[in-house]
Amino acid sequence: MKAPKIKDARYLGSGTTAAQLPGPALPEIAFAGRSNVGKSSLLNALVARKGLARTSKTPGHTDKINLFEIVTEAGDVVFGDLPGYGFAARSKTEIKSWGPMIEGYLMNRGSLRALVLLVDLRRGVQDDDDDLAEFWAQTKKPLVLVATKVDKVPKSQLKPALDKLRSAVDAKIIGFSSETGQGRDELWSAILGAIRA
Ligand code: GTP
Ligand code: MG
Repeated sequence: MKAPKIKDARYLGSGTTAAQLPGPALPEIAFAGRSNVGKSSLLNALVARKGLARTSKTPGHTDKINLFEIVTEAGDVVFGDLPGYGFAARSKTEIKSWGPMIEGYLMNRGSLRALVLLVDLRRGVQDDDDDLAEFWAQTKKPLVLVATKVDKVPKSQLKPALDKLRSAVDAKIIGFSSETGQGRDELWSAILGAIRA
């Protein structure tokens, strides 16, 4: 399936607690993963708007839950860009508040239809990714696994690297590059599938 035509994409609001976020009105998809894995970049690539979600070379850039409303020819959806985890340089207070912020949102946001969990293809699934996947499993909602930055792996090594990762997690995993747009159609298809389910 081709990615749907994006008619509009706009920042909706942000917060660190459910109460601060705009009320749930549309089906929502959350994007989570370690700091610097490429969540904000992937979101921008999906909607083909470079500066919508703020990205940075420095890990720990996104520090709140940021919501974006995306209007497409296939229907409307809200994307939730989450702050990354596994970032050692965060202050203790920040690390302490991350868990309740993300877990509260993932558990209680009724409009959430799926979690897209991003891992860096070159690093694979780390312990904290496993922890998050296990936590999310309680919701019984779909998990979509994405391996990011596939453009950084030489073409000849891409398939073996993806196969290795797939066999390690025993799950479907979408290879994605925000630089080249690889995986964009496939990820949109998974997102629309989760919304329609
Ligand atoms: P936090 O908000 O800190 O959790 O990070 P994030 O996961 O949102 O990462 P972000 O999108 O800000 O990207 C981090 C860095 O990785 C930036 O320098 C991006 O340009 C780079 N990056 C992200 N995706 C890709 C990709 O697909 N390919 C390449 N080559 N670089 C990427
Ligand atoms: Mg970010």
